[in-house]
Amino acid sequence: MMRVAMIGGGYVGLTTGACLADLGHEVVCVDKDPRRIADLDRGKIPIYEPGLQPLVARLKKLERLSFTSDLPSATRAADVVFIAVGTPSRADGSIDLAQVEAAALEVAPHLADDALVVIKSTVVPGTCRRIADLIAGAVPGRSISVVSNPEFLREGSAIVDFMQPDRIVIGGRNAAGISRLRKLYSPFGKRNVPFVVTTPENAELIKYAANAFLALKIGYINDIANLCEQIGGDVRAVAHGIGLDPRIGSSFLAAGPGFGGSCFPKDTRALAAFGREAGAPQPLIELLIARNEDRMRGIVRRILEKIGQRAAARDATVAVFGLAFKANTDDVREAAGLTVIPMLQQAGIRVRAHDPEAMVTASQLLADVEWCDCPYGAAREADVIVVLTEWPSFRDIDVNRLAGSMRGQSVLDYRHVFNPSSAVSAGLDYWAVGAAPAAVPA
Ligand SMILES: NC(=O)c1ccc[n+]([C@@H]2O[C@H](COP(=O)([O-])OP(=O)(O)OC[C@H]3O[C@@H](n4cnc5c(N)ncnc54)[C@H](O)[C@@H]3O)[C@@H](O)[C@H]2O)c1
Repeated sequence: MMRVAMIGGGYVGLTTGACLADLGHEVVCVDKDPRRIADLDRGKIPIYEPGLQPLVARLKKLERLSFTSDLPSATRAADVVFIAVGTPSRADGSIDLAQVEAAALEVAPHLADDALVVIKSTVVPGTCRRIADLIAGAVPGRSISVVSNPEFLREGSAIVDFMQPDRIVIGGRNAAGISRLRKLYSPFGKRNVPFVVTTPENAELIKYAANAFLALKIGYINDIANLCEQIGGDVRAVAHGIGLDPRIGSSFLAAGPGFGGSCFPKDTRALAAFGREAGAPQPLIELLIARNEDRMRGIVRRILEKIGQRAAARDATVAVFGLAFKANTDDVREAAGLTVIPMLQQAGIRVRAHDPEAMVTASQLLADVEWCDCPYGAAREADVIVVLTEWPSFRDIDVNRLAGSMRGQSVLDYRHVFNPSSAVSAGLDYWAVGAAPAAVPA
């Protein structure tokens, strides 16, 4: 058992903290947001993540997981101090390290002489070294290790991803620090999970290179989807056919509205900006970012085309199904809806929206949207329905009931949630991403 202080009780900090406690460690989660800590103390989980609430409750009861705003005490008592705070984009796309630096300076005076600080946040190469220098400057003469340990969990399946990792990446130069972190993760070592132990710079780049590669797969299949739409093809058949090749793999080959979320847009921008700065530009990634942004604008162009056929935009209503950037999360950061809805509103279009989990988070970022408890309410008098999130519950929607509540008939399905033949039989003018109407199977 080791004692862990987790600085940052957000998505990654909270999940990682709970999972480390489940591995048998004693974890204290520290967050500077006192409301978040008070909520967590009362058992209220600030994010929607399947399985997290009962896991936190169980470990709290076992006194292996606790929450505090008292950073000094948590740091002093810890064998390992994780930094899992936010690393947002700056206006030019580069990464803003201010939260990581601030957290390092806050913990520095309270660290034990041989403390281990682990950078869990996604940070550009060189950050670990920079944080080590910052800490050494603040508390000189100590043998404190700073190690990179990027996180690969996905929102929506974060617990399973953490507990069944493909690999553990550790970047460090100090043998004692690396060995302490290996010990922390020893239950994974016993299960033969590969450990990639390398320099901090390589570890930091692994995270960006991995995320950018996955985003490239999405961008690529979206371009192939455009082609399918032109030639009467079906992108799902093409994706299936190529994904069976183990050199390619089937994951991240679902065409859709464009990638969003808290990681891919931010991390691709950071990699592009870092590449420019380091003298090794990343033109593929630069193009990917531009294509993805254009794709989201393309959703609005498509909606306007549909509306143009039916009603003056001033009097039009669009129903948006799905605000979360993907299913099984309430995270709306850089989700398609966050781009699409303000653009529709600017064109004078009224928006009704429904999401099973993300309406609270979305309503903090969007104004003048009519939030609806169910998809049928959102579809009421709508000229167009656009599906932006692949919530499983959307597959159970009764298309006949939907058609009956709409004013128009257009459905733009960016997630293949509806059965095409049922939608067409219900009288809907149904369009699915990457599948020209002629190619939609009967
Ligand atoms: N969200 C993901 O799926 C995911 C996956 C892998 C990696 N990451 C990376 O992990 C990092 C954290 O992401 P997140 O989604 O958890 O962010 P988040 O915004 O959800 O959480 C960050 C938390 O840190 C707290 N915080 C900031 N400064 C603090 C300080 N000095 N002391 C205590 N608390 C502080 C904030 O109040 C917030 O609650 C980012 O670098 C992100 O890129 C995220």
